[in-house]
Amino acid sequence: MTVTMDTLVSLCKRRGFVFQSSEIYGGTGSCYDYGPLGVELKNNLKRLWWRDFVQNRPDMVGIDASILMHPMVWKASGHLENFTDPMVDCRECKLRFRADDVDTLAWTHYCEATKGNKFTIPAGEPCSHCGARRTLCPDCGKGELTPPRRFNLMFKTFMGPVEEEASVAYLRPETAQAMFVNFENVLQSMRLKLPFGIAQAGRSFRNEITPGNFIFRTREFEQMEIEYFVNPRDTVEGRPADEYWHDRWIADCMAWFRRYGLREENLRLREHDQSELSHYSKRTVDIDYRFPIGWSELMGIANRTDFDLKQHAKFSGKSLTYFDEERKEHIVPYVVEPASGVDRALLAFLADAYTEEEVRGEKRVVLRFHPELAPVKVAVLPLLKKRDEIVKAAHAIRATLAGEWRVVYDDTAAIGRLYRRQDEVGTPYCVTVDVQTVGDSDKGEVGDGKVTIRDRDSMGQARVPIEALTGVFRDLLSGGDWAKVASEFPAAK
Ligand code: GAP
Repeated sequence: MTVTMDTLVSLCKRRGFVFQSSEIYGGTGSCYDYGPLGVELKNNLKRLWWRDFVQNRPDMVGIDASILMHPMVWKASGHLENFTDPMVDCRECKLRFRADDVDTLAWTHYCEATKGNKFTIPAGEPCSHCGARRTLCPDCGKGELTPPRRFNLMFKTFMGPVEEEASVAYLRPETAQAMFVNFENVLQSMRLKLPFGIAQAGRSFRNEITPGNFIFRTREFEQMEIEYFVNPRDTVEGRPADEYWHDRWIADCMAWFRRYGLREENLRLREHDQSELSHYSKRTVDIDYRFPIGWSELMGIANRTDFDLKQHAKFSGKSLTYFDEERKEHIVPYVVEPASGVDRALLAFLADAYTEEEVRGEKRVVLRFHPELAPVKVAVLPLLKKRDEIVKAAHAIRATLAGEWRVVYDDTAAIGRLYRRQDEVGTPYCVTVDVQTVGDSDKGEVGDGKVTIRDRDSMGQARVPIEALTGVFRDLLSGGDWAKVASEFPAAK
């Protein structure tokens, strides 16, 4: 099913995934806060990316650089000159628009033919009364628009106590540049051989003029970027190394998104044509996702050639080369850059996981998250909260499992309701403690020491001894098969 953005926004707020930033003051434009479940989901996403692309690979290392970098970095990288959007301003209401957006906006018109009545007319269409086309501000309909002016998207600030031109600094608009300016430090300290990559996950800031669509495009966001350095003189499987590795990274990134749940039919590759290529790029391919707003960029994988290292060498006066032992010469490596956004990936995983189904005449909303992404792995639920032994056993189970995973205890509703709540936030398994588990001392009955595990996706159940729970969850949460667990530990009929 295709979920709407409104449904996701409302679920995210209601269940503690994402809130509007500073909401009690009316919100900060296009900034969002991750709530208790959102932060777990986001941390899981970043941890998996780091584990799969850094920790598990012999050819990768990571860094964590500062957000404020030397202003020369942005001169060398081209951001000061090129990281701009053409903007027009309304001379009357002072609103600012991206020049290329103006003709795609509905426009306000005061129609002479109808005694100056105000109309909102769809983008690109003339007024149906007087036939006029938009010439004035699309919003107020009264002001002339200025000629386009270039507007830099970097946030400016000042370093130190004096607010003067010499102390201007910028919040980084991408994490990538730190990998280039640290190239020599990393190369020497880690004694690396090409090809190798440097990864970084961290905050970036862009003063986007037309942000929106929830966390798809925001002014403060997180990126997960890799700069993968290759020797352009090398060949791999008969192809130039940079071209070979570019295709390898495209395939690896696609596989990663599929592995954690994005469906094939919602993913596609989009090749940038020549006119669209950034100033540094030899070839760029986007992985697009079918978001609730339509097909849009999820991440980009660019072949940045030797542009960045050469620019930083030129502006810093330092040599940023690699000694090719085989050819006995210094070369400037080429760079393949898989660049993704944490928030955008999180939105894609949320949208893909969202399902609605009918169960016994009622709507069931389920986030079918991959277990490794799910914010909460297990919810421990007492069947009767008035029975002390049950509550005590449930708390003890939560405490034991919490040593390894994010596990919650909830006794604030009847069991059916508690299951639905966990379904809606994507918890893969619930554990229910009941009378049979603990027995009934008043009647002289001893418990069986077993609990019910309920599987989110199939709603099937298994009856598992408490001491076996950790082992069972280790298996299930790392991709184990529910059917195997259900047949090994059958639930009572
Ligand atoms: N170093 C290259 C680079 O930054 P980009 O295509 O501008 O390339 C990479 O950004 C990724 O960062 C995008 O594919 C997207 O996932 C994320 N991203 C970029 N701008 C964003 C914004 N304003 N809000 C949320 N995510 C953004």
